[in-house]
Amino acid sequence: KDDSLYKAMQQRGRSFIGTAVTLRNESRETEIINQEFNSMTPENAMKWESTEPSRGNFTFEDADRHVAFARKNKLQIHCHTLVWHSQLPLWVSNGNFTNATLIQVMEDHIKALATRWKGACTRWDVVNEALNENGTYRESVWLNTIGEAYIPIAFRLAKKYDNKAKLFYNDYNLEFNAEKTAGAARIVKLIQSYGVKIDGVGYQGHVTSEDTPTAPAPAPEQKVLEAALRATADLGVDVAYTEIDVRLNTPVTAASEAAQVATWQRMAASCLAVKKCIGMTVWGISDKYSWIPGVFAGEGSALLWDEKYEKKPSYAGFLKGI
Ligand code: XIL
Repeated sequence: KDDSLYKAMQQRGRSFIGTAVTLRNESRETEIINQEFNSMTPENAMKWESTEPSRGNFTFEDADRHVAFARKNKLQIHCHTLVWHSQLPLWVSNGNFTNATLIQVMEDHIKALATRWKGACTRWDVVNEALNENGTYRESVWLNTIGEAYIPIAFRLAKKYDNKAKLFYNDYNLEFNAEKTAGAARIVKLIQSYGVKIDGVGYQGHVTSEDTPTAPAPAPEQKVLEAALRATADLGVDVAYTEIDVRLNTPVTAASEAAQVATWQRMAASCLAVKKCIGMTVWGISDKYSWIPGVFAGEGSALLWDEKYEKKPSYAGFLKGI
């Protein structure tokens, strides 16, 4: 097998292996990207707080640098994200907008971003994390002001301003929580019932491979992962893992690492087992910059390269699953 994640994936007839990217002064990252990846997701640069910090004030320098980096290195771009409750400036979430005005705010934002990177974005995460764990809609300024219609409206607007990108709904825990997966399937049907296009569902894939304080459950089994992917793929859309990391309680032990390697392999194998699974993105390169330790206290070691950019055993596990 090729010693390159994306080449192995392409040999299997799938489209991409990607990584989240925050541009920084680390030449090893560019080398690894060129060797291993053919897709990138800007980790933060395209989020609302980064691109429209106050109404009508669009700040695209950082996102543009990420787009230029992708072009230079011939990477697909998984553009992330248009409508989300998080990393959303207070002028939106506390703006006391009416239904009509908030839809206008949404249109102005989607229009600005989608037109700017039309042709550059291979895929767009149009709506991110709209669901609670039990599959109901999450409270947010979007839901509270517009109702569930905000989701199909966002997709209609994304298509209006970028008819080339594949349009995705994206969320976490979909890969193992059946109630939430059913919620995602309802979202696909809701969008379709409006006569609007949705091309795919992104399964973030922020998983664990042992009990942790934030995930009191063992690692998802292969048949659970596959069933979760099929629950939306069977509705006629593509699926992908969009933000994979496999976090562990730290410090790591030999046994916990072995379970982690097996989990990386199962994640990959589940995608390959489902025809409509077009690719997988991992949420960063080196543990040095992973978001996990900052958000999940006492957990970490979640990526495929260690803090010194050495490949970890999980790399071989992931490649084996492809
Ligand atoms: C995370 C980034 O990795 C962090 O740098 C940032 O501080 C918070 O957001 N779901 C998503 C991603 O859709 O955008 C999040 O990224 C991780 C969870």
